[in-house]
Amino acid sequence: MDAKDYHKVAQADALPQGKTLCVELAGREILLCHTSEGVFAVDNLCSHAAARLCEGRLKGHRILCPLHGAAFDVRDGSVLTRPASVALVTYSVRVDEEGIAILLQQSGGAACHKSP
Ligand code: FES
Repeated sequence: MDAKDYHKVAQADALPQGKTLCVELAGREILLCHTSEGVFAVDNLCSHAAARLCEGRLKGHRILCPLHGAAFDVRDGSVLTRPASVALVTYSVRVDEEGIAILLQQSGGAACHKSP
């Protein structure tokens, strides 16, 4: 994948570890999650009933839905707790001196690439 395929969505310092940031890209709401393992990106809408996950809480690598309490692993979008049963769409993320960038092409598992 070429660097030009990534779209810058935020400055790196706009997202401290342990926090989330909702960004919009090509008409989609995408939630950036800064965990101890890096930055991951998932769809902002819960797969259960479309609550906005940016209103939930990030605990470690889990994002908790504010509406019915489902939990998802932000590293790969997988469901950890019901009532959700469908994984979140994830996006590849790149973090470097230019900021945080997302590869718009959806993937089954989020990736985090930190440049030295
Ligand atoms: S809307 Fe997220 S668990 Fe129901």
